[in-house]
Amino acid sequence: MDTQPRVSSTFFILLSVLFTLRPVLGLTECHFPALFNFGDSNSDTGGLSAAFGQAPPPNGESYFGAPAGRYSDGRLIVDFIAKGIGLPYLDAYLDSVGTNFTHGANFATAGSTVRKQNTTLSQSGFSPFSLDVQSWQFDQFITRSQTAYKRGGVFKELLPKEDYFSGALYTFDIGQNDLTSGYFSGLTTDEVIASIPDILNKFTIVVQNIYRQGGRSFWIHNTGPFGCLPYVLDRLLIKAAQVDPVGCATPFNDVAQQFNRKLKETVDQLRKDLPLAAFTYVDIYSAKYSLIHRARKYGFEHPLRACCGYGGAYNYNQQVGCGGKIVVNGTEVLVKSCQNPSTRIIWDGVHYTQAANKWVFDQIVNGAFSDPPIPLKKACRREAH
Ligand SMILES: *[C@@H]1O[C@H](CO)[C@@H](O)[C@H](O)[C@H]1NC(C)=O
Ligand SMILES: *[C@@H]1O[C@H](CO)[C@@H](O)[C@H](O)[C@H]1NC(C)=O
Ligand SMILES: *[C@@H]1O[C@H](CO)[C@@H](O)[C@H](O)[C@H]1NC(C)=O
Repeated sequence: MDTQPRVSSTFFILLSVLFTLRPVLGLTECHFPALFNFGDSNSDTGGLSAAFGQAPPPNGESYFGAPAGRYSDGRLIVDFIAKGIGLPYLDAYLDSVGTNFTHGANFATAGSTVRKQNTTLSQSGFSPFSLDVQSWQFDQFITRSQTAYKRGGVFKELLPKEDYFSGALYTFDIGQNDLTSGYFSGLTTDEVIASIPDILNKFTIVVQNIYRQGGRSFWIHNTGPFGCLPYVLDRLLIKAAQVDPVGCATPFNDVAQQFNRKLKETVDQLRKDLPLAAFTYVDIYSAKYSLIHRARKYGFEHPLRACCGYGGAYNYNQQVGCGGKIVVNGTEVLVKSCQNPSTRIIWDGVHYTQAANKWVFDQIVNGAFSDPPIPLKKACRREAH
């Protein structure tokens, strides 16, 4: 009589252990106290603007109501990531006015590459803040923010706590400009492909550096289908046979995919070399390509035409960008945005609209495009199960 209740209560305990263990291992969400981002214009929230002048209106018109350091009519994927993990939008590390780094900082600048370029911004449009420079800035940010934090007062309300660095999510979206800069400087496709191992070695060095300083959760975007972007379609000569049914340039998208295969291998290697960290590789390429491919199905139109631009087959002109002025038949014309940016994918010929960024974020947030397939909020976990 006495053993019966004990058996069933042991059984009950076993059951509850089984049921609670799963959530503990796989279903609990991470608490990311901060977000640190590295990248190019795909995730620049004010870096290049702070250093070299504000991105002009109508950038920012759909959400911020004014230019906000972003090359878009509104928010970027990194903004939706910040919001998705319950943090404020990221200020740019380079921005010295009115910024608050309590919950992270953004080291990305428009035009950034992984590898240092041998040209200046005014010569080629590529940023001097390549990924190695962003990494040095991060090193400075850790040491100097902690020195300032210890001074107390207002610094405690503007800078992260020491333990935020190990708990933070580290996001990356960089590589596209390394590939396009190769083409723009006259390299052949084979030469661009030959540069990929060096690009990824330099990428690896930066991730290792962050790991050494305590970083444990890495969320790495692969590169998008830049063969679908007006600035590539317009600038680089493409033969009709090299265009896919969607209208994108196949050779450039092939190179993007080649880069992504190697990036995925690089992330696999990092996972082995840095066993205490969680790495999530996110296939941005497939999300963006499916949006462009099935634009109409998802409520978008003119998938290859810039919303804010001027002239040509793609509403894009290399000489005059979104917000610039052009003289046509003696009359000055402002390069304005299209009627309805919320139904467009490409903003200015190089970057995506807020609507497209939101769509892509909604695809990737639950892990459907990730390896391992872990949702954003669980990206501190090393395994999906
Ligand atoms: C810059 O020049 C150096 C020396 O010629 C070369 O090794 C390097 O690959 C070049 N970098 C790029 C991004 O082309
Ligand atoms: C900076 O932001 C954090 C949280 O977003 C807030 O608690 C803090 O008060 C802000 N600092 C200042 C000086 O406003
Ligand atoms: C500029 O003027 C020429 C000649 O009058 C005309 O053919 C052309 O359509 C005009 N272009 C624009 C954009 O108005």
